[in-house]
Amino acid sequence: MPNRNLANIRNHYQRDALDWSNLPSDPFTAFEQWMEAAIAAKLYEPTAMALATVDNNHQPHARIVLLKGIDTGFIFYTNYDSPKGQEIAHNPKAACTFFWPDLERQVRIEGVIAKVSDSLSDTYFSSRPKDSQLAACASAQGKVIADRAELESNFDKIAQQFANKTITRPANWGGYRLTPTRFEFWQGRPNRLHDRLVFRLVHDAWQQERLSP
Ligand SMILES: Cc1cc2nc3c(=O)[nH]c(=O)nc-3n(C[C@H](O)[C@H](O)[C@H](O)COP(=O)(O)O)c2cc1C
Repeated sequence: MPNRNLANIRNHYQRDALDWSNLPSDPFTAFEQWMEAAIAAKLYEPTAMALATVDNNHQPHARIVLLKGIDTGFIFYTNYDSPKGQEIAHNPKAACTFFWPDLERQVRIEGVIAKVSDSLSDTYFSSRPKDSQLAACASAQGKVIADRAELESNFDKIAQQFANKTITRPANWGGYRLTPTRFEFWQGRPNRLHDRLVFRLVHDAWQQERLSP
């Protein structure tokens, strides 16, 4: 990009302010309130989060997944044999980050990941559109393939196999729950003096801290 000066791209943040007086004192409630605001603002993919995991060489990897539920943690679905699945099996510590640009907000969540129950994965899998179910069966996520035709022919084969039949969830596809030990709520502010409010789990209680931007 020889004629493009990326360093000159600048935005001014001024939509909102963040203080303990306008954030619920429970971080899950606070997150749900911010998620509701992101949905109400009709942002594209408000549930998209960057999920970071670390491999056995200590190399971090980040990718987007979609948040599909919140209970005691943050639930997403994927292929258990994928690179991320292997990384989680090796090191369950992980982080996920939401960025809602139109709201000038970021949420960072850190914690530990474990698989959800088979019954929860079954329930979610059966709620998915049939094509998504077939795609989960057809894709060995992360494996090298020769070309796109290989993928599409796998999909067609599986579609034939399951024509007029209920598609059962593949054993290597299901949910994970990230159980948080830290939340950070970030609100963009003028002059780069952003607001950062952190909840840290210490002896089963959420401690609150404000960080310098
Ligand atoms: C908007 C968006 C949503 C995505 N949602 C998911 C998801 O929910 N689950 C998933 O496994 N991959 C999802 N992906 C694909 C992942 O980013 C990634 O390519 C894939 O999971 C393979 O990651 P891995 O090789 O690190 O295991 C999504 C990608 C984008 C851009």
